[in-house]
Amino acid sequence: MRPLLVVSNRAPVGVDVDADGNRATRRGAGGLVSALRPLIRDHAVTWVASATTDAERALAAAGSVDQQGEDGSPYRLRFVAHDLEAYRLFYEVVANPALWFVQHGLWRLKHDPEADLAGAWRDGYTTVNAAFAAAVLQELEQAPDAGVLFQDYHLYEAPAMVREERPEARLAHFVHIPWPGPGEWSVLPRALSVRVHEGLLACDSVGFHTERWRRAFVESCAVLLGRGDEAAACSHVNPVAVDASGLEAVAGSAAVKEREADLVAARPEILVLRVDRTDPSKNAVAGFAAFGHLLGRRPDLHGRIGMLALLDPSRQAIPEYVRYREALEHEARRVNASFGGAGWVPIDLRVRDDFPGSVAAYRQYDVLLVNPLRDGLNLVAMEAPLVNARNGVLVLSREAGAWEEIGRWALAVDPSDVAGTADALEQALALAPAERRRRIEGIRRRVRAHDTRAWAAAEVAALDARSTMRS
Ligand code: G6P
Repeated sequence: MRPLLVVSNRAPVGVDVDADGNRATRRGAGGLVSALRPLIRDHAVTWVASATTDAERALAAAGSVDQQGEDGSPYRLRFVAHDLEAYRLFYEVVANPALWFVQHGLWRLKHDPEADLAGAWRDGYTTVNAAFAAAVLQELEQAPDAGVLFQDYHLYEAPAMVREERPEARLAHFVHIPWPGPGEWSVLPRALSVRVHEGLLACDSVGFHTERWRRAFVESCAVLLGRGDEAAACSHVNPVAVDASGLEAVAGSAAVKEREADLVAARPEILVLRVDRTDPSKNAVAGFAAFGHLLGRRPDLHGRIGMLALLDPSRQAIPEYVRYREALEHEARRVNASFGGAGWVPIDLRVRDDFPGSVAAYRQYDVLLVNPLRDGLNLVAMEAPLVNARNGVLVLSREAGAWEEIGRWALAVDPSDVAGTADALEQALALAPAERRRRIEGIRRRVRAHDTRAWAAAEVAALDARSTMRS
């Protein structure tokens, strides 16, 4: 089996030192690491990721360390330590406000048009990518045959840097977020967009979750670089799979069962759920407003229905994200003040990182609202129905990549249409039990048919096919 180097900014586990000086690990945040974690079960993986805590920086100095996945599978973890200011520019100026916002159609939220993006790119993004490239090159010394799987928008430049030193390396990239058309890239200085596209085209293969994002990539390569044919040849669609058995095991664990019992004791008759990071692309403000609309139309539901919003605080050093979090807290308070009372709180908003609590809530929802403005895939929409115990209905944005996979079993929403989202919530409540069952079972069949091994196998096969053609 070919060894794999998985390269992502976020590590599969975070490492901290607790009050007693012991090393403690916690799950890495977000969809990317949940989707890729199963890779370590089936492959010889060295995972290369940024060190973001003191404990991780200490581990970086020691080179790679042996780790075990949740099921005991061994892998190696190599933290890359960065210059702190370079990392700040990379994460807080380039990757998360600039690239994330361009790719999610959120550029209007960028609050600081005066910022020196080109300078932050040079001193932050390129510097961090160079540190990743150096770590990968060192690993390739040990395992020249390894397939290198770069992940996501943090690492657009590193592949070209590795290619330069090792023309024969096997390099793949997977983009987990939406790909916008050439017009949307034009908000960035052209030289920077060119670097993004050239970096990806240095790879043997480039993967996307949906055909829609892949097509946009081919188009933007054609318009920006005149290299649409190369982009068409190296790109492929391979939506990540959900680790169904892993999730089912978590759902049946004592920790989740305990949380579920608490939820059952306190739940409203009808539970509407959302589970997200506090990210502007997830569109929680519009979701809360839509719930408010529903309450405005349906006094008969007052006291009987509640929305539980479990939001993982995300990227809180970045002003746009702090502002968005304030806006969603404000909207939840507004709805609660307008409609709540007599012991009934319509929106129960909890902003914290709580994985067991989220899985317990997956079991208990009647309606799951997933209404992102744009989303690469969205794992919540695919995971929660697998373990739900109430034939819950999915209300899903047409702008989520998951729509291509499971949209036909969901009720559709256009994410900017608040009244329309309220309509969809109302329709979800009115669906007959048999129809609810038909829909959730459709989602389950589709999600289970797609296994995590097949995703990795397809990535490796695409990489091998293309790198063999090149050599
Ligand atoms: C999304 C991105 C990932 C990222 C995750 C969490 O899922 O596609 O690349 O790791 O969000 O964001 P964070 O900034 O906390 O790593």
